[in-house]
Amino acid sequence: MSRPLATKSDHSKICECPPGLDPRKMPAHIAVIMDGNGRWAKARGLPRIMGHRAGVEALKRTLRLCSDWGIRALTVYAFSTENWSRPSDEVNFLMALFERVLQSELAQLQREKVRMNFFGDLHVLPKRLQDLISESISLTERNSGIHFNVCTNYGGRRELVRVAQKLAERSSRGELDPALIDENVFAAELFTASEVDPDLLIRTSGERRISNFLLWQLAYSEIHISDVLWPDFDSSALVKALLDFQSRCRRFGGLDPVDSDQMAF
Ligand code: FPP
Repeated sequence: MSRPLATKSDHSKICECPPGLDPRKMPAHIAVIMDGNGRWAKARGLPRIMGHRAGVEALKRTLRLCSDWGIRALTVYAFSTENWSRPSDEVNFLMALFERVLQSELAQLQREKVRMNFFGDLHVLPKRLQDLISESISLTERNSGIHFNVCTNYGGRRELVRVAQKLAERSSRGELDPALIDENVFAAELFTASEVDPDLLIRTSGERRISNFLLWQLAYSEIHISDVLWPDFDSSALVKALLDFQSRCRRFGGLDPVDSDQMAF
């Protein structure tokens, strides 16, 4: 890898947002469905794997920008539970790519104080990748910088089933009264227990689906669909997503303050 994955910024500094963005209205947590690697490669007459390679560069750029602009967490969809159905050559390439990128970038991530985590059923991944993932998590767990979460062999439905199983097991052991299960108890068993829910979901390549990503956590996220293919995602595409986010009025099922002031019963 020619450029480090992490940002060069000092996280104790006030973030420097690009002009036009309001630093007080930045999302705390951005989730990204990185889509369009295959189409990017096809458009250039290249094999699909070249699109994934270019996708890594886009991910490095995005992590750096998010960190520099004061975003506290970035969660990306790297490999879904459904992606195993791709041709085995592509799956093997992706697993080797994850391994290679982790190996080459871990020291730099650590220097830049990035806190890494991985969400998904990790025990079926190749053993060497599992070992690298464990090393990355334990090495960076006390870091004070951006939280960088990589969803690998992740599926939203599977995550919810896993929570149901954990709660059922605790109940059957007599440790948890089912009547006391509420949204907080449930959310504490999700992979994302230590994160706030994403404020903003970005999906690239113009597709308009959630694709089994963070089904619980995206309940009130603002959604930005970018037509840019993931390998081309850059600072101007991110600024566009952030401007779109900052233009939204988030009501969380309530009313705008101005509208509720005007209510006359
Ligand atoms: C979706 O595009 C992309 C993926 C399934 C893989 C994403 C992985 C990376 C960008 C590498 C990340 C690396 C690390 C270390 C986390 P697609 O292949 O579905 O594109 P298409 O829809 O155009 O075919």
